[in-house]
Amino acid sequence: MILEKMSWSSEFSVGVEKLDDQHKKMIRTINKLIENPDSSVDSEVVSEVLNELRQYACEHFELEETILEEIGYPDLECHKAEHKAFREKLVAVCSATTVHINDVPSILFNFLNDWLVNHILQDDMKYRSFLIDKNIITSSKQLISHKDLFIAGESLPPSPHSKS
Ligand SMILES: [Fe+2]
Ligand SMILES: [Fe+2]
Repeated sequence: MILEKMSWSSEFSVGVEKLDDQHKKMIRTINKLIENPDSSVDSEVVSEVLNELRQYACEHFELEETILEEIGYPDLECHKAEHKAFREKLVAVCSATTVHINDVPSILFNFLNDWLVNHILQDDMKYRSFLIDKNIITSSKQLISHKDLFIAGESLPPSPHSKS
C-alpha cells in the first residue's frame, strides 16, 4: 500500500510557535515511514524513527506540560495521562524492535497516525481554544512564542480548576 506523505497545514496550529515546530517534526517522522514503505524492523529508518520519538516524548511533552500548567489548563491531568500512555507504548514498540518483531514498521505507523489524528489534532487543539478563551492569543491564526506565553501566564488569574 502506497500512502501519501503528510503535510503541515495552518489548521494544525496550536497557537504556540515552538509546540507547532515540534508537531511539524512529528509529521516529518511519520513521513519517514511513508517514504520508506519497505523498511524492515532492523532498518536504519526504524531506528531513526524510534530515536526521534524518544526525543519528542522527552522534549515536547515536557514543554507542553509546563505551558499547560503555567496557563492553568483545567484538563492537565488527563492530558498528562495521554502523554504517559504514549511513552508506555513507545517502550513496548522499542522492546518489540529488540526482539525483531516483523510488524514493527506497520505498528509504528498506525501508532503515530493515531497519535496525530486523536491527540495532536484533537487533545492538543483543545488548549488552543483555551488560549483564545483566556485572550492569550486573539485568534486561531495568531502564534505566540513560549517565552511570551510564560509572561502572559503570570498575569492570569488562577484557574478555578487548578489545585492550590
Ligand atoms: Fe503536542
Ligand atoms: Fe499533548
